[in-house]
Amino acid sequence: MNVISYVKREDILFHRVSEGYYRGEMLPGAMEGIITNKCRIEAGAQVWPACYADRVTALFIFKGTGRIKSGSQVYEITERCLFCPDFDHEKYLIETDTEMEYLELSQRMSEEDWKHHEMYHIVLPWFHTHSNWHLYIEGFRASELKSYAVLHQYYVSRMSLGEVTGPGEARLEPHTHPELYQWFYGLPGTDPFLFKAQDEEVEVREGDWICIPNEVAHIVSPMKSGDYIDYVWFEVVVPGKEMCPYFY
Ligand SMILES: [Fe+2]
Repeated sequence: MNVISYVKREDILFHRVSEGYYRGEMLPGAMEGIITNKCRIEAGAQVWPACYADRVTALFIFKGTGRIKSGSQVYEITERCLFCPDFDHEKYLIETDTEMEYLELSQRMSEEDWKHHEMYHIVLPWFHTHSNWHLYIEGFRASELKSYAVLHQYYVSRMSLGEVTGPGEARLEPHTHPELYQWFYGLPGTDPFLFKAQDEEVEVREGDWICIPNEVAHIVSPMKSGDYIDYVWFEVVVPGKEMCPYFY
């Protein structure tokens, strides 16, 4: 059985949700309780995305401009940004000025997840823009390749998300994450890059989405030194393997 599951950009099947609003599920069933969608909204549209009472959700918006209106708040979308709605407590509207694309990532909340959520979570809704993302160091990377924390672990349940961008060197050592499922998305403008897991290898291009389960040794690497890569990673902790300091 393959350890890497992936869908190429051209194979993501979109369906029309409402006027000017399209959504396609990517890699359904890759992990129990997780749904990953790619969404596209035409320029000048107004849409009310579905809100979920039992799912924590993060929107990673990587293309387009416009705004999100949630309650009395207006969040202007002028650069890459992340939006986490407040479950179904407050509906939100997305208005686009130009064509918009984003990932809608969600995790079903178990009884255990709700207990942890009560102990620790970021106040929702939460809007976070590229200018404010946190640059951090990963010792195994060349320094020109920048790692940004976008959605910190346990801000919203077991999900976290970040971006890696820059010219890189093809010299990375494989590593494993005992507790994390991981997904990767090639952002607009990225050069193709290599994803290796165990003895499998996939060339990831802009718009592709790939996933590996926890405990699989892997490397993300530019195809050749100096290639410019830009991808977002999304991770979800396997239930029971959480390391949140607020647990009891
Ligand atoms: Fe990793």
